[in-house]
Amino acid sequence: MTITQPAVDVSALPVVDLDTSALADDPYSTYRHLRETAPVVWAPAINKILFTTFEACAYVENHPEIFSSHVEGAAMVKALGGRPLIRKDDPDHATERQSMNRPLRPRNIQGAWNALFEQNAETYLDRLVEAGPGADLNTEFAMPLAGKNLIDMLGLHGVDPLDIARWSLDFIAGSGNVTDDPDIWLRCETSRAECDAALDEAIPRLRAHPDASITSAMLAGGLPEDAVRNNVKLTISGGINEPQHMITNIVYELSRHPETLEAARQDPTTWDSIFNEAVRKYTPIGMITRETVAKGEFEGFHIPAGAQVGALLASANRDEGRFPDPDGFSLHRSETTSLAFGRGVHQCAGKWAAQSSIGRIAIPRLYERLPDLHQDRPETWNGWVFRGMTSLPVTW
Ligand code: HEM
Repeated sequence: MTITQPAVDVSALPVVDLDTSALADDPYSTYRHLRETAPVVWAPAINKILFTTFEACAYVENHPEIFSSHVEGAAMVKALGGRPLIRKDDPDHATERQSMNRPLRPRNIQGAWNALFEQNAETYLDRLVEAGPGADLNTEFAMPLAGKNLIDMLGLHGVDPLDIARWSLDFIAGSGNVTDDPDIWLRCETSRAECDAALDEAIPRLRAHPDASITSAMLAGGLPEDAVRNNVKLTISGGINEPQHMITNIVYELSRHPETLEAARQDPTTWDSIFNEAVRKYTPIGMITRETVAKGEFEGFHIPAGAQVGALLASANRDEGRFPDPDGFSLHRSETTSLAFGRGVHQCAGKWAAQSSIGRIAIPRLYERLPDLHQDRPETWNGWVFRGMTSLPVTW
């Protein structure tokens, strides 16, 4: 283990020996161990104070005056080529967020996006059916569908769904490139250049002919062009991988619980509960990062100013204090609000778009078209900060 000397005094916090490769293999047993240790711990292996329980993570999200998003030297800023709103604090963050919110409100999604989400789901269902039983649900359906939905929401033309999915992976790799791997920076540079070329076409078009897209809303809201470009790249890095993972997560779970699938067939409102419980259980964004700009205190643990912080959302969502039998999958929980989309001022801007495009459209259509769909062979999981399947072979 590499020991990083903390720049601030963390001596009051319990120290944990974090094994990041074990975390990627099975994050949930490590998270259990961390929660049993304390709600706040110091992890020298990643140079971060970690918040491990539901209430501890909620404390981070609820106190932006202590936990700043304006992380200095953030790898994400280098990966995207500029600072997006997720790496800013209010009031700067709020100005940019306001113009993004409009196209992503539930009523707008209903009016502008659902018909496109349905059309895209049909297109990639055709592709999956053509690939035939034994196909990989991730590459034949989940990835290109999530990519195409976001291309439409961003108002981009002439972009291939698999290219935008690659940009997304490159920006994510760059945002986590704490070891400064030059190959990863090169990938980010290439993806940034391709994305900027698409924006060179989109920006003048959307200025002349505004539409319902997120990019158009940011331009109409008067954001400077570089802010629009940074936020488009942020949306690409956060708006594909996670919806994609939710498709495979739900099919994986329903392959093990046919009675839950049957319940959704009897009562379609069950699809919303399935999506909510799956996004809790398989929280796609496992950790969000902040930097303390003031001292804090949580349940007697003193948090110094000037420290790097990780709020473990995936651990919070398996906190037995909040969700009894947290490793189970239950549609009858008394507490259904998880931290999968974060909370507070940075709560996910695409929450309703994800729920609608995946939970209400892609997944129900998948089972209408292929009623016997289920997992065929073993799946492959990857990551812990961003966690999901890289392959899920299915048959029907
Ligand atoms: C299941 C799918 C998704 C999950 C689990 C998810 C999760 C999250 C989380 C946890 C955050 C908060 C990060 C933080 O506080 O640091 C976030 C922020 C964000 N998400 Fe999502 N997301 C999803 C889908 C989407 C989609 C489809 C879009 C775009 C259409 C999107 C756009 C954004 C943006 C722009 C932010 C930054 C918000 C801000 O800083 O104010 N997300 N997301």
